Amino acid sequence: MVINVELIRESYNNYIADKGDELIEYFYDDLFSRYAEVKPLFDETDMPLQKKKLLASLKFLVDNLEDTAVLADALTSLGQRHATYNVKPEYYPMVADSLLSGLSKVMGDKWSSEMREAWTELYMMAAGIMQSPADSKPPAVGQS
Ligand code: HEM
Repeated sequence: MVINVELIRESYNNYIADKGDELIEYFYDDLFSRYAEVKPLFDETDMPLQKKKLLASLKFLVDNLEDTAVLADALTSLGQRHATYNVKPEYYPMVADSLLSGLSKVMGDKWSSEMREAWTELYMMAAGIMQSPADSKPPAVGQS
């Protein structure tokens, strides 16, 4: 899988960075209206804080696109935490849908099929690592 790093960075730096709050607002509105089944997962969540965390994680992904070791580490732990939030595999495409809708909304007429492809690749890479089984890693030294 090849991610078009330049296109991601260009869209992020020139358009998305300034419209992060709008993107995340739209994202959760869209997610909860189209996929009501995931809403209860956020019942106890401090949403203003969660919105900041999600935005920070997007920026982190964009900043570290070429640093596969850093990405793999961060996304593996993020995925393990998500398993404890009761996130099921079938929820990942729902989040992808709403995120891509949000991106196309904030990008307006600058959004293109190439950008959709690049962001889809990035999301699939991240979601793939997040969902890889925790026990696929070699056991730590000393473990039986
Ligand atoms: C690439 C995909 C995703 C990314 C980058 C992402 C990012 C994050 C981040 C940064 C947090 C903050 C807490 C933490 O760091 O552990 C979080 C929490 C959470 N995410 Fe995700 N997420 C993704 C996919 C999903 C999916 C598919 C769902 C399912 C609906 C989901 C549901 C949640 C829930 C329920 C929380 C916990 C809120 C709380 O603390 O109460 N996430 N996510």
